[in-house]
Amino acid sequence: MKYEPSRLEILLTRLAFYFYGKSVYRSFADRLPLKGGERVLDFGCGMGTVAYYVAKRLPLGHLICLDISSRWLNACRKTLRGFENIVFIQGEATMLAAGSLDTVYSHFVLHDISESELEKVIPALARALKVGGVFVFREPLNEAEKINIIKRLMKQNNFILRDSRITDIPVMGNALESIYIKK
Ligand SMILES: C[S@@+](CC[C@H](N)C(=O)[O-])C[C@H]1O[C@@H](n2cnc3c(N)ncnc32)[C@H](O)[C@@H]1O
Repeated sequence: MKYEPSRLEILLTRLAFYFYGKSVYRSFADRLPLKGGERVLDFGCGMGTVAYYVAKRLPLGHLICLDISSRWLNACRKTLRGFENIVFIQGEATMLAAGSLDTVYSHFVLHDISESELEKVIPALARALKVGGVFVFREPLNEAEKINIIKRLMKQNNFILRDSRITDIPVMGNALESIYIKK
């Protein structure tokens, strides 16, 4: 469901990015298995907290920052000004071309999406990935019910779990990080 943030929410996120950028967002960006030339999607990019670190890892590739919210996407454009390897899309996963991506990642997004919407979002992301493509997510561990739904949908959409771990993130608490490969 589309939700537009207030100015205060954007400001608080910017402060969190300033103080915890490396320990929270860069730690996730560094987990992505990238060589540097991939076409990568940040699904639900928000103000570009993770994208800021991922873009630096793609000297020969491209990062697509997609968000349903125009206000978050505008904030993302500000965070990432100066980078030339980024495409911004305001919209939904269903807009992505089939087989166009090597990697999709999603940071603290999927748990916020209703089950009925996830039933459309995860197949759309699977369709956009090439065979052998990678899907990485990090979600709060206390969202156990939603995590089970996500795991079921990943399996139903031909993803194989390659790696999974629980990590303690400053301020945010325990989170599940999983890496899947598309069959
Ligand atoms: C909690 S924020 C996380 C933002 C960013 N990934 C981060 O960790 O800083 C969730 C983001 O997902 C976006 N979002 C929620 N549902 C979405 C959907 N169906 N399609 C695209 N973006 C979505 C929201 O607009 C918001 O920017």
